[in-house]
Amino acid sequence: MAHDFLGSESCQACHPDAYAAWQTSAHARSREVLSPQQQKDVRCLSCHSPNQTDQKVSHVACESCHGGGQYYSARFVMKDSELARLVGLVDPGEKSCRGCHDGASPSLKPFDFTAKLKAIDHWSVERAKRKAAAAVVPPLKPEASASR
Ligand code: HEC
Ligand code: HEC
Ligand code: HEC
Ligand code: HEC
Repeated sequence: MAHDFLGSESCQACHPDAYAAWQTSAHARSREVLSPQQQKDVRCLSCHSPNQTDQKVSHVACESCHGGGQYYSARFVMKDSELARLVGLVDPGEKSCRGCHDGASPSLKPFDFTAKLKAIDHWSVERAKRKAAAAVVPPLKPEASASR
């Protein structure tokens, strides 16, 4: 699908915690580490800003991993996991990381998926909040209501 990216800011309103975590990650400034000259070099952009040319979206953006959001980011679609995936939501896994974090990247250490995944955690806060919101409100203690 061409030009179906909405940009990372489009996810922010509904995913403020994920957005805030991403913003502090290396992925949110991956284009800036390149010199102005390198920012025009497709060989560097392929990993440092992979959707800049086709989608006008910089850095390793939300949609670089999760897929272009044009069709899945409506609230009613997002709430339907199956539908969201049918219209473009991608579950990024180790394979997608290795598309960039492989032998061609400058890292001297081999890519440790478990550790690196932890380093880009932008889901735990959101999941915890969702769980708390879904939890049943505990009933009042009998003493508390009797003392009124
Ligand atoms: C209009 C609000 C809204 C926008 C905009 C939005 N989302 Fe969502 N998203 C949601 C809701 C609501 C859920 C479901 C959460 C739940 O289950 O309570 C969700 C779920 C998700 C999930 C988990 C899906 C699953 O089934 O496991 C991912 C990943 C996600 N969104 C990524 C994104 C990305 C990336 C963007 C930006 C391109 C985005 N969202 C934009 C509201 C939104
Ligand atoms: C195959 C994907 C890939 C390509 C192509 C690539 N890089 Fe990178 N680059 C990475 C990854 C992944 C890292 C982070 C490595 C790490 O820290 O373990 C990185 C890190 C860097 C850093 C260090 C950033 C920092 O925060 O210190 C610089 C500078 C850099 N790359 C420049 C370039 C330049 C210039 C080019 C083009 C000639 C290029 N890269 C091409 C994947 C790539
Ligand atoms: C480098 C790839 C990458 C980028 C960039 C990225 N994500 Fe994710 N995201 C993941 C992975 C991988 C997971 C699943 C982690 C897991 O389940 O262990 C995830 C999980 C999520 C979830 C939680 C889904 C759930 O089941 O609860 C949401 C929401 C989400 N991402 C939104 C975003 C948003 C919004 C952005 C941009 C601000 C973003 N992501 C950027 C890779 C990425
Ligand atoms: C489109 C290419 C791309 C994909 C896909 C990608 N990354 Fe990255 N990642 C980069 C680049 C480029 C950097 C270096 C950015 C910088 O230093 O400014 C980086 C840096 C990082 C860093 C910080 C540096 C380091 O090595 O500790 C972590 C952690 C990381 N990525 C984890 C992941 C994980 C986990 C995934 C898969 C869920 C993933 N990345 C997918 C391109 C990518």
